[in-house]
Amino acid sequence: MACSSVCYQVQSMRINQLCNSTDIIAVNGQLPGPTIDVFEGDEVVVDVINSSPYNLTIHWHGIMQLRTPWADGPSMVTQCPIQPNSSYIYRFNVTGQEGTLWWHAHSSFLRATVYGAFIIRPRKGNAYPFPMPDQEVPIVLGEWWSQNVVDVENDAVMSGQRPIQSDAYTVNGLTGQLYQCANETFTAVVQPNTTVLLRVINAALNAHLFFKVAGHNFTVVAVDACYTANYTTDTLVLAPGNSVDALIFTDAAPGSYYMAVEPHDTLSPSTVATTDDDSTATGILLYNGTSATATPAMPTMPTNFDTTTANAFYFGLRGLPAAVPSPVDVSITIELGLGQLPCDATQTSCTGKAFAAAMNGVSFRLPTQLSLLEAQFDGKPGVYTADFPDAVPPNGTAMVEGTRVRSLPYNSTVEIVLQNPVALPSENHPIHLHGFNFFVLAQGLGTFTPGNTSAYNLVDPVARNTIAVPTGGWVVIRFLANNPGYWFFHCHLDAHVPMGLGMVFAVENGTTPDSILLPPPDDLPMCRPGSKRRHV
Ligand code: C2O
Repeated sequence: MACSSVCYQVQSMRINQLCNSTDIIAVNGQLPGPTIDVFEGDEVVVDVINSSPYNLTIHWHGIMQLRTPWADGPSMVTQCPIQPNSSYIYRFNVTGQEGTLWWHAHSSFLRATVYGAFIIRPRKGNAYPFPMPDQEVPIVLGEWWSQNVVDVENDAVMSGQRPIQSDAYTVNGLTGQLYQCANETFTAVVQPNTTVLLRVINAALNAHLFFKVAGHNFTVVAVDACYTANYTTDTLVLAPGNSVDALIFTDAAPGSYYMAVEPHDTLSPSTVATTDDDSTATGILLYNGTSATATPAMPTMPTNFDTTTANAFYFGLRGLPAAVPSPVDVSITIELGLGQLPCDATQTSCTGKAFAAAMNGVSFRLPTQLSLLEAQFDGKPGVYTADFPDAVPPNGTAMVEGTRVRSLPYNSTVEIVLQNPVALPSENHPIHLHGFNFFVLAQGLGTFTPGNTSAYNLVDPVARNTIAVPTGGWVVIRFLANNPGYWFFHCHLDAHVPMGLGMVFAVENGTTPDSILLPPPDDLPMCRPGSKRRHV
């Protein structure tokens, strides 16, 4: 298939990692895949050609997709997947946002290897709100399985267990030399006494990560492509889905320094027997002039369960002074739940899903026939119901399965309290909203007290697209629903999506011509070969 514009060839590729030769699915034969590097205001056109044996879609994580929901990418929410030997052109503008984001497959576990960085620079003539760095280094952190990741996911879903753990963490696709049989280590060569902007992304499927560079502090300047007040720390903390832009100054003694990555295990130690794999992925920060064979200095990493360090990072960030939309038009309290689905006598209600996750007691199921956005656009009933509950169901209510959405009036201000269970704390869920950035007004441990608005930061709240909801804690977020479309809101631990930890916001059309859902592009993939999309 020939390709216009930027071309993503998605296909199998054999690579060596951890003494194994493994077939993975990758874009353009690269791991990570190609970096998208654009200016704010640019149009991005990516022709995705699926030469892999799997159905897939690509999602541009954190891109707001103003007026282009058909390009957002979550499978069965805004499009049917691109079938093998088919293609789809994603076309959208990156207006009104700057910083580091990323892209990834949004169907099954394929994002384990189908991912890359997405960098948005200030448009020509505009500057960063921090001193111009001398050098920039994208650092995409990931997880590596020596097995086929689609099999790993299917095994987990069928058994109702957590998926088997990854075999390694990675820095720009490489495990680093502290693993046995490490093939290579990512190395960034830097000049002494310069400012380096690290664009760090957590593309791991299921692991929260700590990131440190021996001998250097970070000045955080943005998270999730939203600028922050300068925040100095020696440890970056990234939940799956998060990105952090951080400056380092290379004023240490000329030498070799490890950039080290280890997991933050957020499971409540009292409720689990097993812990995450505590191995260490490394890259190297090498001062120019130092021998590449010098032994790098190793930073002291937080321990696996160091939630204090993680929360200090998350709670300590501030945004730039911002206008927070108010007053609140829609307020929703969502409790994140994990548990057993009640099975009926014939077991049909929980086939292959003995263990489930839910928001407000509803375990989310993607539709199978038509994407939600198409169903809406084509006026096809029966694909979803618009009865997602705004409140937490009474204690002891059984989970139900459903494809339930919450409609939001165009331009309404939406406040959501995300509550992680306190009585039986489980783990930190990084909740990601498609289509918007939201302000993080408040966060804490224990149970949120309804109406406690005195805890809100309405002056300089940090903005994000993915928020780590603390184990046994809560977060309050707010966003302006100014983008018509169907927007997935889900846990970014990939294992929790098939379990049902998500829901969808349906932002209604406005009344002005520029606030009405546009028709889908002509090449939007169809679910079944031969099925007709009805264009109005
Ligand atoms: Cu980065 Cu719905 O995902």
